Amino acid sequence: MPTIYDAIKNDHDAHRDLLATIADGSKTKAARKKAWEDFYHDVKAHAAAEEETFYSKLISKTWGQDTARHSVHEHQQLDDLMEDLNKTAIDADGWLDKFNTLHHDYNHHIDEEEDEVFTRARDVISTDELEGYGSRFLKRKEEEAGLIDKKKADKLED
Ligand SMILES: [Fe+2]
Ligand SMILES: [Fe+2]
Repeated sequence: MPTIYDAIKNDHDAHRDLLATIADGSKTKAARKKAWEDFYHDVKAHAAAEEETFYSKLISKTWGQDTARHSVHEHQQLDDLMEDLNKTAIDADGWLDKFNTLHHDYNHHIDEEEDEVFTRARDVISTDELEGYGSRFLKRKEEEAGLIDKKKADKLED
């Protein structure tokens, strides 16, 4: 089992690649659209799993509270931006400008998680707990991804 840090970092690396594909004008529209859909779904499940299995622990300790609150607040802002982008086609007017903002803000968010947040968490989560947190994160993320798919299917049926 990966540690919680490796599990989160693996996702971030995949997100960095997807963001680069979406931003790459030399790629086909279909490839960029597919990368956007993958990014949108994976980040939703990733953020929910982070909040429930990682930030919930950090927020329970004085040492991690401010950092955890700051990151969870950024999740909300990023989610608003993602919802906004998901409403229109990727070649719609203004889409790329908004996406560039998301690209910048998301990279800032994950760099901060891997740096400041992980540093704080090291004082809150002991070494022998790291794989347990990693497996709970992955399990929660999988459940959340299932819920997102279900929500999408329900919407299509309406
Ligand atoms: Fe996050
Ligand atoms: Fe993250």
